[in-house]
Amino acid sequence: MNRREERSRELREHYRGTVALVTGAASGIGRALATELVARGATVVVADIDREGVVAVASRLEQAAGGVDAVPTRALPAVLDVTNADDVAELVARTARDHAGIDFVFNNAGIGVGGPVADLTLAHWRRVLDVNLWGVINGVQAAYPAMVAQGHGHIVNTASLSGLLPSPMLVPYSTSKHAVVGLSVGLRMEAAGRGVKVTVVCPGVIETPLLDKRNPDDLPPVGSPDIRAMLTRLVGRPYPAASLATDVLDGVARNRAIIVTPFHARRAWALYRASPGLLIDRGAARMRGALRPSS
Ligand SMILES: NC(=O)c1ccc[n+]([C@@H]2O[C@H](COP(=O)([O-])OP(=O)(O)OC[C@H]3O[C@@H](n4cnc5c(N)ncnc54)[C@H](O)[C@@H]3O)[C@@H](O)[C@H]2O)c1
Repeated sequence: MNRREERSRELREHYRGTVALVTGAASGIGRALATELVARGATVVVADIDREGVVAVASRLEQAAGGVDAVPTRALPAVLDVTNADDVAELVARTARDHAGIDFVFNNAGIGVGGPVADLTLAHWRRVLDVNLWGVINGVQAAYPAMVAQGHGHIVNTASLSGLLPSPMLVPYSTSKHAVVGLSVGLRMEAAGRGVKVTVVCPGVIETPLLDKRNPDDLPPVGSPDIRAMLTRLVGRPYPAASLATDVLDGVARNRAIIVTPFHARRAWALYRASPGLLIDRGAARMRGALRPSS
């Protein structure tokens, strides 16, 4: 085995026999993370608000795994609304109790809310902050003290490239994701002395059902953007969720602070850091053209 193969094996072994909780695991990135965790030998609590989805994903993973080598692997479904702090705390506590500890919590559940800010209502802002930001806060407040008490653990929060860059037409979403980045990097510095690791994941455009969703149906209708078309044009072609999951689990095993992937996301972030004013002014000029009423 050469050095590279040896390192790749070590990164996979990092998860063997561990216990992980993944929110938003019925679909897209969460499902891909749960699948890759099970493939690497972890026991995974597959949590989502979508009851049918979690049951289907957990039973598929359970069948596919059937134990990795001699280590029994399990995928356990849990119906969970991440906006309910009591339920999040209860699930984290139950998982830690049932498995004598909890090694990883992936606060991944999220929704997209967009449209021109002038057309949005406070309900649009509240909904996206409730799920994308408070969902993560609830996960952190439930997991972090338990991890401090057990002396180890790794919290992995899914933000977005939109948490690092300006995202017109997705301003509430981008606001929630900037907050998740701030929460994660600050907590990482604080948590290091308590034996707990924190990583924030900032994916670019990933091939999941989110790209084709519009704002939640119960919110007042606004002209919400075609997210797939807009992000593909501005950032790059969608990257497979399974490849993202591999990048994330390898990055977490390396204890990276911020995981920005795929390449199109790293390129956009590098351009922004090199000259934020230029990128914002160019973006504003493009938006002026795009939003000008046609006569
Ligand atoms: N797809 C992308 O291009 C992309 C890019 C960057 C970041 N992200 C982020 O990745 C995460 C996962 O998104 P995805 O692309 O897999 O979307 P997805 O829509 O495929 O999956 C999101 C999952 O979250 C669940 N969910 C929604 N609200 C919930 C709640 N209140 N409680 C529990 N579960 C809830 C949904 O039922 C769904 O199963 C989100 O945080 C999203 O913002 C996605």
